[in-house]
Amino acid sequence: MRFGSPRTSLPPNWDCGYDISDYCNVAPEYGTLDDFKLFLDESHKRNIRVILDLVLNHTSDEHAWFLESKSSRANPKADWYVWVDTPPNNWQSCFDGDAWTYAPERGQYYYHYFMKQQPDLNWHNPEVKQAMWDAARFWLDLGVDGYRLDAIGTIYEDPKRTPHSVPMNLAELRRFSDLAKTPKELKLKDKYWHDMFKHQWGQAGLHDLMQELRAVMNEYGGDRMLVGEDDNIDYMGNGNDELHLVFNFPLMRTERLTPQHIRKNQKERLKRLNSLPVEKGWACNTLGNHDSSRIRTRYGDKLHDAELARLHAGLILTLKGTAFLYNGEEIGMTDYMLTDISQVKDTMGIWYYHAIVTGMGVHPEEALARTAEMTRDKNRTPMQWSKNSNAGFSPQDITPWLPVNPNYKDGINVKDQTQSPYSLLNYYQHLINVRKQSPALIFGEYTPIHAAAKDYFAFLRHTDSQKVVVVLNFSNKRLELDLTKVKEVKARTLHTLFSSADHSQKKQDLHALAINPFEIFIAEVKSTHG
Ligand code: GLC
Repeated sequence: MRFGSPRTSLPPNWDCGYDISDYCNVAPEYGTLDDFKLFLDESHKRNIRVILDLVLNHTSDEHAWFLESKSSRANPKADWYVWVDTPPNNWQSCFDGDAWTYAPERGQYYYHYFMKQQPDLNWHNPEVKQAMWDAARFWLDLGVDGYRLDAIGTIYEDPKRTPHSVPMNLAELRRFSDLAKTPKELKLKDKYWHDMFKHQWGQAGLHDLMQELRAVMNEYGGDRMLVGEDDNIDYMGNGNDELHLVFNFPLMRTERLTPQHIRKNQKERLKRLNSLPVEKGWACNTLGNHDSSRIRTRYGDKLHDAELARLHAGLILTLKGTAFLYNGEEIGMTDYMLTDISQVKDTMGIWYYHAIVTGMGVHPEEALARTAEMTRDKNRTPMQWSKNSNAGFSPQDITPWLPVNPNYKDGINVKDQTQSPYSLLNYYQHLINVRKQSPALIFGEYTPIHAAAKDYFAFLRHTDSQKVVVVLNFSNKRLELDLTKVKEVKARTLHTLFSSADHSQKKQDLHALAINPFEIFIAEVKSTHG
């Protein structure tokens, strides 16, 4: 297939685009390759870098490579995917049941970690690597600035194909997880998820592969980057030869963000990043993405959701490392629970609904509630641009892919928030500007202060030229902090750079620094005489 030829058919979309049928083109619902080039140029003119998602583990079952591979055992691409005569084990796909699916054309089964429409590539075959690196070069040649590498942990499987030891299949495990309540059940649930998939991800071989891809990136000028959808710092290699970044997922894997949890997380991550042998690793923090419940819903307490949303933005934009924000969090978008199974687009949700209704006799009403909760559709509803129909996302006569969350009418939209000086959107922009203008917040080291405090999280960020103190009050109490015993701060003056409360005084009292409930306070530490 010629790279870049116009697409004639719609892409399959079994997994919201993560089932790729052409690596070198644009899905028509998003436009054309020329539109993309224009978008890229215009972004670069505005100093905005563009990174693309690169899906390495699998293709669509409609990709020409797979169509050839499944056509016959004698096809030149016969070995590009993982084929077996009979399923060698009880492995599950994490989306839709058995991981081995029969293809009558070859009279064999192929392996898939995700949906059966997403067959896994055989990365042991050097031709697969070359084809994928060529696809990566295609976009790098156009000028893209890097890649988010999808699901890298699942690229290789246990060569011994050891069966999993969990006494249930995927649907049963999901059901078990839905019903688990006691600490014992919850612990067992986590163990089962780990044990069910432990032979299918995190296997040997990935370091070499990441080094190869890094070498491809190094063929290009500019500082192009790779970020892995994985939290394992090992995939940053020696600090200079594998990935530039991996996500700090352990930070967001919690029911509630507490100062204790954040401090422990930062201590562990930064220690590990600082100990990479050749170059220190750079941190990368996020609280949300298209696969997880929206921040405002997930970390809210239903009483102080608005305050907590601001606090969490303050956290992610002041911690050491690159911050990844998920679209819509800057206006406070929330999860939206679908109310009818016909609305569900996430195929893993549809699969689960039918598996429990038909396979386990669960009442459709309960099954719908479970599905609405587990599906990623809830956090993927259209961006809310204005209070016009369809939240300004699509014209009135178009039915969007997923329903629009009706709260766009209540101020959760970009247009209203642009006009309101105290909106969350303006708050994010203000905070981002403070960060951009503060070398300490971008490059500075992190040092926790008052490290035993339960109500608030306080820390310093410091470079040779600037020292900044950050206080995030996670409680609904008014605090008075004594900073006179903090060696980096004592006998100095604090100049407010940002506060979510109204600090009328620019200079703050170090003996009794007043912090309002849920306040985010950022100040520069200056010499008293300076
Ligand atoms: C990643 C993506 C997710 C997708 C899966 C399969 O986890 O973030 O959305 O479904 O990979 O490609």
